[in-house]
Amino acid sequence: MVNISTFAISLVTMTIPNKKSSILKKILRSLLVIALLFGLYLAGWYLYYKTQYPAVSPLSPIEVQSNDSIVERGRYLSNHVFVCFECHTPRNFNLFGAPLIESQQGAGNVKMQSNPEHGVFYSTNLTPYNLGSWTDAEIIRAITMGVHKNGEPLYFGMPSFKYEKIPLDDLKAMVAYLRTLKPIRNEVPEGKPASWEVWKNMRTWQENIQLAGKQQFSSSAEYGAYLAEAGSCISCHQTYVNGQPTSDLVLGGGYPFVLPGRKDTIRASNISSDKTYGAARYTKENFIARFKYFATKEGKKIPAPKGRFQTPMHWTMYAGMNDSDLGAIYDFLLSLPAVSKPVQVYTPVD
Ligand code: HEC
Ligand code: HEC
Repeated sequence: MVNISTFAISLVTMTIPNKKSSILKKILRSLLVIALLFGLYLAGWYLYYKTQYPAVSPLSPIEVQSNDSIVERGRYLSNHVFVCFECHTPRNFNLFGAPLIESQQGAGNVKMQSNPEHGVFYSTNLTPYNLGSWTDAEIIRAITMGVHKNGEPLYFGMPSFKYEKIPLDDLKAMVAYLRTLKPIRNEVPEGKPASWEVWKNMRTWQENIQLAGKQQFSSSAEYGAYLAEAGSCISCHQTYVNGQPTSDLVLGGGYPFVLPGRKDTIRASNISSDKTYGAARYTKENFIARFKYFATKEGKKIPAPKGRFQTPMHWTMYAGMNDSDLGAIYDFLLSLPAVSKPVQVYTPVD
């Protein structure tokens, strides 16, 4: 940096002997100076974001205990509630709801498809083959604050901002479970942001957060709201206007998905409290049963080849949620405003 700026100054003060072409030389010299100053500005910009961000400090050591019930809690949460493996495991898109390919649990290397304009990113390997060298605190920081163990940022396709409220005990349980996965040798390519703007945004969204203690919820609906946020229901079913989620929490659906390699469009359903078009047309029992069907033998094997109804919703994963958690989500949905508008869920290619 210092060398470059000294060089720039000596260029400005440099005398040019040949007077005839002095005007041309002056122009050239000014252009050079402008180019150098611009180069300096870019270098400064890069160094600033590279060294000052992500603004997240290391966590103090965390000790994760492990026993059968802790591992089971971690398995339940990461597979059926927070659906970590929707991204971190290859899935079979020829079946409805695209169930996980179980022999590949946690192998990663799934290309992220929802925002190709951000660049090319892959989910990482969550088996001990990769995370074996991470400390418990490093894994917990990655989950809740979106930072790699080396301090570099994770792409926001890893939705850490949804996981900020997960109580520490549940985070520990998920780490205990990840440690029990079968190690799968699978190297994952590094992600590539599409522009400097994305590169910068990837570094600046993280912040130090206070890990949550045991949560107290005043009602079942309030607990359901927490599950629906951390379980991604809201991000898909929120009503979008001009590509942006509405500022009010309105789950009228309608967001269009085009699945990888397909041309048909599937839109998120209206799951607001509306009695005609939304979740309130189900009783709580029916709502829970609609999920549970996808845990049955038939429900896991519904063919959905190209050209037939498929969905981005991971029914087969959520189907493992227990009745009281699904019931709490139902209570939350019914506490929201009603959106009295139908959604055309499926448009086949004609
Ligand atoms: C919507 C997709 C998605 C979901 C859901 C998701 N992840 Fe990720 N995760 C990613 C992507 C993509 C990366 C890699 C980001 C990058 O390359 O910068 C990642 C990175 C990570 C990392 C860092 C590992 C490394 O080697 O860099 C950990 C740990 C992790 N995820 C754990 C989890 C856990 C635990 C959950 C559930 C609580 C979860 N993820 C849910 C997409 C997801
Ligand atoms: C990745 C996006 C996505 C996520 C995450 C998601 N959904 Fe969906 N959901 C959809 C789409 C698209 C449909 C319509 C196609 C279908 O039936 O699968 C749908 C359908 C539904 C339906 C059926 C509604 C009806 O009218 O029959 C219910 C109920 C539902 N979702 C609830 C939820 C809940 C609760 C969660 C969180 C636990 C959730 N969804 C998470 C995309 C998503």
